Amino acid sequence: MSDRRYFLKSTLQSGLAWSTAVGLAPSLQASPLAQQKAALHVPSIGPDQTPLPYTYDALAPIIDARTMEIHYSKHAAAYSKNLKEAMATEKLSADSSVEMLLATISRYSEKMRNNSGGHYNHELFWKCMSPKGPQEPTGQLLEAIVRDFGSMADFRKRFTEAAMTRFGSGWAWLCLDAGGRLQIGSTPNQDNPLMDISPLRGKPLLALDVWEHAYYLQYQNRRAEYIENWFKLVDWTFVGQRMRTDS
Ligand SMILES: [Fe+2]
Repeated sequence: MSDRRYFLKSTLQSGLAWSTAVGLAPSLQASPLAQQKAALHVPSIGPDQTPLPYTYDALAPIIDARTMEIHYSKHAAAYSKNLKEAMATEKLSADSSVEMLLATISRYSEKMRNNSGGHYNHELFWKCMSPKGPQEPTGQLLEAIVRDFGSMADFRKRFTEAAMTRFGSGWAWLCLDAGGRLQIGSTPNQDNPLMDISPLRGKPLLALDVWEHAYYLQYQNRRAEYIENWFKLVDWTFVGQRMRTDS
């Protein structure tokens, strides 16, 4: 199968799977995680933090070790802890899929919304970065970026604008929509494109945290400098894998 045909087939399948997840039937929402995954072919994360895939100092000098330590062990840890509290209070199984929860978040409390989003967003954010050095997208991901944004330079410009114009705290996103096209946008606070209340919908491929806790110790109010440097950390191999598969 040619690269183009494989890309179209795989992105369509991926888009369909996530579209199904976003509009899933109520009968599936309370079912155990393994059953949900089998029924929807959507992988899931649980409410616990997973280990950081590198050491606190691995992303320096772009992101300093103190920022990473506080971000992971205090801020992100609190989202996980508070999510588990909300799940217990609102009678959700500890084995529930966080992605499924996000897809129906309008049914739950503000605490659930903030902390399920906070947990999911950070779990993805850590994996979007790598200490391997500056990379560039290749293959099917680069082909999709050129198709949907014109060029890599245009993509960077639009993504940076989304991150810079998010007022206050929030996130910038590259998503794969249900039609298999890439979308750029931002969400406030800890909202994300999997939430049924979000105007921006799709499978998140790349996440950028623009809360001040992500950069203030090192960059203070210089969000633009943080964003420009952060691009050198993006693990484009990971982003490309998310586009092609349900992972
Ligand atoms: Fe954060």
